[in-house]
Amino acid sequence: MDYNFDEIIDRKNTSSVKYDMRNEIFKNRDVIPMWLADMDFRTPDFIMDALRRRLDHEILGYSYIPDTCNEAVAGWLLRRHGWKIQPSWIGFSPGVVPALNLLVLAFTNPGDKIIVQPPVYFPFFSSIRNHGRIQVNNPLIYEDHSYSMDLSGLKSKIDDRTKMLFLCSPHNPTGNVWPRDVLEKLADICLKNNIIIVSDEIHADLVYEPFKHIPTASISDEIANNTITCMSPSKTFNLAGLSVSYLVIPNPGLRRRYLEILDHIHVGAGNIFGFVAMEAAYKSGDLWVNRLLHYLKGNIMLINDFIHKHIPEIHVIHTQATYLVWLDCHGLGLDHKGLNEFMIRKAGLGLSDGLLFGEEGRGFQRINTGCSRYILNEAMLKLERAAAKFINNNRTFL
Ligand SMILES: Cc1ncc(COP(=O)(O)O)c(C=O)c1O
Repeated sequence: MDYNFDEIIDRKNTSSVKYDMRNEIFKNRDVIPMWLADMDFRTPDFIMDALRRRLDHEILGYSYIPDTCNEAVAGWLLRRHGWKIQPSWIGFSPGVVPALNLLVLAFTNPGDKIIVQPPVYFPFFSSIRNHGRIQVNNPLIYEDHSYSMDLSGLKSKIDDRTKMLFLCSPHNPTGNVWPRDVLEKLADICLKNNIIIVSDEIHADLVYEPFKHIPTASISDEIANNTITCMSPSKTFNLAGLSVSYLVIPNPGLRRRYLEILDHIHVGAGNIFGFVAMEAAYKSGDLWVNRLLHYLKGNIMLINDFIHKHIPEIHVIHTQATYLVWLDCHGLGLDHKGLNEFMIRKAGLGLSDGLLFGEEGRGFQRINTGCSRYILNEAMLKLERAAAKFINNNRTFL
């Protein structure tokens, strides 16, 4: 079966956040939308067929997550990541961000401290602050255009109110795949200090060779016991509109407490189409994901080559995972407002403002390359034209 990722599908007027909220976000409904982490590819046949089969039954009453779905999750994690889990360790959530919020409520108290490593996916911040917990920043180290974790900084930030750490693995927005030794050291610090690791691994399937995703909890039984892993088919198969995700919680005490809070707010039943799609994706999605990774890698190479050759003022951070690419735009010499104006008004691109990901993201923009190569080329040409004009004007001015 061949999949056509070059196909361009009109997504306008489908209540698509990425397309139909451009005016609200950018005050411009014509920008090429390359912001939200949502891909433009057609949902694969094996998922659509499973959804149609379920729809054809024509009764959509209360439902629950079937064992076959949890078995499909376990099968996928073993095949794709070499991680052997028990289906009974799985807990449902209507999304990873809801899971982060529920975990904060379940395992910390107001005034407790939770560590994050910015620049990082910004709902990490709100999941902490919205509940009166204290966000402690342990920023990544940025050196020679690449990022690493500050493990000695981490130790110095811990005190007896520190109860949880949000890990983003692979890391959004920098595209880092964390190596085993780094995860081991991080987990060891957390174990020694009774800090629960919440490992957001939503991008685990989107890793480019030779890099390899290591599930934090797969490192040792002791680490598994102290780690709650949040995963979902929503990035890999672009199913965010189905509100389905899951947690892997090997520790029975932590699992019981999570399921209790899920039950209290009565969202544990989920959405029948989410379960059907997730099971189909994890049973039949290997080939599609392999092809997707090949296509996305081509897109990322295109961006790298194009920007390196034509817009040397922007530096593309090496992407090891995800279809999100982090652009260091300091070389354009613009302030925060100027950079956003440049991307939106001059280049006609709707990217993610780097500052959203924390102060460390100032001067950066994140671009979503999960689109057809034709659109990506268009975007690059628009960026080149805008940059050439801007740089020429500035030279004349100087
Ligand atoms: C690291 C990370 N976690 C969570 C999410 C969103 O998860 P959900 O839509 O399941 O809440 C995203 C989406 O971009 C993400 O990048």
